[in-house]
Amino acid sequence: MKYSAVIGCGYWGPNFIRVLSQQKFVPLKAICDCDETKLNRLSGKFTGLNYFNDYKEILNDDSITAVVVSTPVKTHYKIVKELLLHHKHVLCEKPFTYTSEEAKELIEIAKKNNLVLMVGHTFLYNTSIQFIYDWIKNTAFGNVLYVHFTRTGLGPVRSDVNVLWDLASHDISIILSLVNSKPVSVIAFGENYLQKGIDDVVFLILQYNENLIVKMHVSWLDPCKIRTMTIVGDKQMVVFDDVSLNEKVRIYDKGVDYQPRTGEFGEFQLSLRDGGISIPFIKPNEPLKQEVEHFLDCILNNKKTLTDGLNGLEVVKILEAAQKSLDNGNIKVQL
Ligand SMILES: NC(=O)c1ccc[n+]([C@@H]2O[C@H](COP(=O)([O-])OP(=O)(O)OC[C@H]3O[C@@H](n4cnc5c(N)ncnc54)[C@H](O)[C@@H]3O)[C@@H](O)[C@H]2O)c1
Repeated sequence: MKYSAVIGCGYWGPNFIRVLSQQKFVPLKAICDCDETKLNRLSGKFTGLNYFNDYKEILNDDSITAVVVSTPVKTHYKIVKELLLHHKHVLCEKPFTYTSEEAKELIEIAKKNNLVLMVGHTFLYNTSIQFIYDWIKNTAFGNVLYVHFTRTGLGPVRSDVNVLWDLASHDISIILSLVNSKPVSVIAFGENYLQKGIDDVVFLILQYNENLIVKMHVSWLDPCKIRTMTIVGDKQMVVFDDVSLNEKVRIYDKGVDYQPRTGEFGEFQLSLRDGGISIPFIKPNEPLKQEVEHFLDCILNNKKTLTDGLNGLEVVKILEAAQKSLDNGNIKVQL
């Protein structure tokens, strides 16, 4: 029998522990955190597991084949590298690494050792996001003109990375899968109101060779918890609202058409099309459960993951460029 393990039992790790503890084919065997108090908090909830405060115990257990890394971003590279060198398949939380050089090295090690290396870009396992991708590709949505994201609220405030690395990583992973082309440059504006040197509010603009513009607003300092994505197409528009309980996706049959002016050859006038709004039924799922099941399926059936190391690297490259823009007076950084 082969087993799984989770490293990092802070805010997010316990979600992986809950989901993995329900899996039959690769049962959860061990959880690890260097902070004893995090393990003590979980001891009553999950029984029959090994509790470690040093992840070397996991490295040396040959029966553990699949490991989730849910530790702070700056620790990912070192822990994931050791796991891969000990022939473990790894699901690493987002953002994958803190530099693209680190990500490239991990991808190479995984490839050389024929291991699954997956990055936890949870939104790509969300049925509403999957519905939107299908809708845009397979219906009369038209061309995507511009997209804007808002991911704001009051905390949780981190001190290991800024809000760009914490929250914008989600929106970057969504947009990279939504449109076929890649951004060519990035401009970011940010401010640190809460902790010196750690931006808590960031506005990010991705520019493309086509006319497409993508704007992201991420903040830990905002009165309202907002999680929205608005996609404006030339035929329709879609709004994703992740906070809404059962109306997460709205499709607006709105747009602007060109009408020929009667009598005058070659002249057009704009006509606003203010059509209906539809709210499709989308079966809700737990994205994290789907993500974990996909990870185990890739290991057991030798499949390629949807959010592999290369996908994680693409997100890190944009974060790095945005950080460079923040650090250098909001300059435009080419990708
Ligand atoms: N996909 C999502 O929606 C989502 C949501 C929240 C967090 N995350 C990601 O999950 C990761 C963890 O975030 P968090 O909010 O749980 O952070 P956290 O700080 O609450 O928890 C991290 C835990 O890792 C432990 N840790 C640190 N170094 C360790 C080491 N060397 N060995 C063992 N344990 C170690 C810490 O003691 C802490 O308990 C981050 O990469 C974050 O971006 C993802």
